[in-house]
Amino acid sequence: MEVVVVETPEEAARVVADAYTALLRRTPAAVLGLATGSTPLPVYRELARRHREEGLSFSAARAFLLDEYVGLPPGHPERYREFIRAELERHVDFAPGAIVGPGDLDAAPLDAGPAYERAIRDAGGIDLQILGIGSDGHLAFNMPMSSLASRTRVKTLTTRTRQDNARFFAGDIEQVPTHCLTQGLATILDSRHAVMLGFGRGKAQAVREAVEGPLSSRWPASVLQLHPHATVVVDEDAAGQL
Ligand code: GLP
Repeated sequence: MEVVVVETPEEAARVVADAYTALLRRTPAAVLGLATGSTPLPVYRELARRHREEGLSFSAARAFLLDEYVGLPPGHPERYREFIRAELERHVDFAPGAIVGPGDLDAAPLDAGPAYERAIRDAGGIDLQILGIGSDGHLAFNMPMSSLASRTRVKTLTTRTRQDNARFFAGDIEQVPTHCLTQGLATILDSRHAVMLGFGRGKAQAVREAVEGPLSSRWPASVLQLHPHATVVVDEDAAGQL
């Protein structure tokens, strides 16, 4: 695992965008893994800038999302697929249909996990997976105690996660879905390069447990210690307990 400590999220965005740029220049038809949450936003902004000003192209690339709510109708603004459309897709040049989330397959929720795993495999696997980290060490919706060997599956959202996310649903927990579909920790381990970002003091303990703690489902991000090519990009606050 390599750990890169930077001063600002913008500097982190440049470091990560460099990895995307190198990959897309080498392999225009690369397969990208996209994350939601506030953490990857500076990276998406930097990628949009490079597309606009430097001609970085995504036109032959494909992408898979990490996770999705179950039960929100297509087009609902809080669907993670809509988030990616608003924050990245509409600012660059992905081909129509090139971005797929676990909720986009024509499959019943319980079949969607295996179908999504097949779709990723059929695309040749994920070349570059970007990840945020929850303050409790979660990756995607793999909350503490998720199996380190897990694959894409339906999970029940904890009350804490639904409370945390209620701010995106007019503060009303009743509107927050009760279930999600998420790539598993083993799915994430299959990516050829995993880049995890963390900013701010609130992530410092989770970053320490992920990087230096024992491998444990108590801190799901510690599974990255098993990844043959994992890069952790953190600001000084998030690196504060290393
Ligand atoms: C959600 C997402 C995760 C994300 C986490 C942290 O739970 N499912 O993929 O990493 O939030 O969010 P933020 O980046 O806003 O801190």
